[in-house]
Amino acid sequence: MSTLWQGRFDGDPADELMAYTTSIGFDVRLAPDDIAGSRAHVRMLGRVGLLDDAEVDEVLAALDQTEAELAAGDFAFAPGDEDIHTAVERRVTELAGEAGAKLHTGRSRNDQVATDLRLFCKRELADIAADVIALQQVLLDRATTAGDAYLPGYTHLQRAQPVLLAHHLLAHGWALARDVDRLADARTRLDVSPLGAGAVAGSSLPLAPDMAAAELGFAARFENSMDAVSDRDFVAEALFALTMVAIHLSRLGEEVVFWTSEEAGFATLDDAYATGSSMLPQKKNPDIAELARAKAGRLIGNLTGLLATLKGLPLAYNRDLQEDKEPLFDAVDQIRLGVRAMTGLMSSITFNTDAMAAAADAPTAAATDLAEHLVAGGMPFRDAHAVVGDLVRRSLEGEGSLADLMRADPRLGEAAAELLVPGVPVTRRTTAGGAGPEPVSAQIERFRARLFTDAARFD
Ligand code: ARG
Repeated sequence: MSTLWQGRFDGDPADELMAYTTSIGFDVRLAPDDIAGSRAHVRMLGRVGLLDDAEVDEVLAALDQTEAELAAGDFAFAPGDEDIHTAVERRVTELAGEAGAKLHTGRSRNDQVATDLRLFCKRELADIAADVIALQQVLLDRATTAGDAYLPGYTHLQRAQPVLLAHHLLAHGWALARDVDRLADARTRLDVSPLGAGAVAGSSLPLAPDMAAAELGFAARFENSMDAVSDRDFVAEALFALTMVAIHLSRLGEEVVFWTSEEAGFATLDDAYATGSSMLPQKKNPDIAELARAKAGRLIGNLTGLLATLKGLPLAYNRDLQEDKEPLFDAVDQIRLGVRAMTGLMSSITFNTDAMAAAADAPTAAATDLAEHLVAGGMPFRDAHAVVGDLVRRSLEGEGSLADLMRADPRLGEAAAELLVPGVPVTRRTTAGGAGPEPVSAQIERFRARLFTDAARFD
């Protein structure tokens, strides 16, 4: 078996070593980025005179063919191809002979893999941000068409105050807006080329890292070769940004599980986005929403696993760093699937606005409005809280309906009783950013504007 280091070694590597250390099974996914990195590297080598024009062309042609073979699935992997970098270089050398053997000039797999992974993250994080924006768009559409539908807003999962359905949906939308921001921010920080850092210290050859960086579309080149090859902050940041998306999907998922339960009955899933039971014929289950909850745990595992891998590593490159890829790839795949599934679910779910209203119309849900009514008349809030609390308690003890008790109370009377009329309390929420019709229509416009700007960022 041929290896990249065979000159220094007497015999072949043990099968167990290859089985344990090989990464081609997962890093083959970096092939397009590895080839892009090699193109930039060989062009840079040509421009600084380390390869002549004919050699550069030969290597570029070999890279084209290698890329085509990999894309078509007819690339013949050799037993010694322990990772994608080895496989590509081996094939380029087969195809381009001596010119191919110059491809790795001034380069190490250490700066190469860091370059590949940054290219990968730049692309994938942008794609995922676009998917998140599509989910936000659905939430906005549903909020816009929700009109004056309202439901209970909960604290401690106890009914607290009625809120517009649009407000509730956009609460999830704003959380996702922060995710888009985090993904964009992570992309900005990772936009640095490590190519030219070599194994650890750069090179004695006249390399031009700025040239390679520009060729690859990076905003800058590394400042320190040791940092360049050992830094995986960008993977940790990408994982954190993705994990926050997972957590937001999980919280939205939990809402869907609750809303579609027979106990709440606030929403009904479209058949295409629900599952049935193998035994119970009547069942319609919210499996997407449940998996959105569960997969957040998986992403948290990916993030904490990577952080544990990085902790305590000495400078600079260590093979431990190979363990950065699987958690990252898994997180990217799971978030892409999850965001798309939740987008379909949320665009097709039916809101049972009568059931939502009925739950929100319980007179007790207007208790805070009653207290605020007394405050508007000059009573200190703490006293008003006590007056209304006393009426609620007496009503719950069976003394009469809250409305009747209020009518009989000179401090409240008929005007206050009218606050209990179904649909009225939610209209009284006028605070900017609050849950009533006035602030919510302003909020919808702000959300729409923000979404438009974010969509343009990821066009
Ligand atoms: N497969 C390796 C990784 O993912 C590539 C770099 C290997 N470098 C080395 N010095 N063994 O990290």
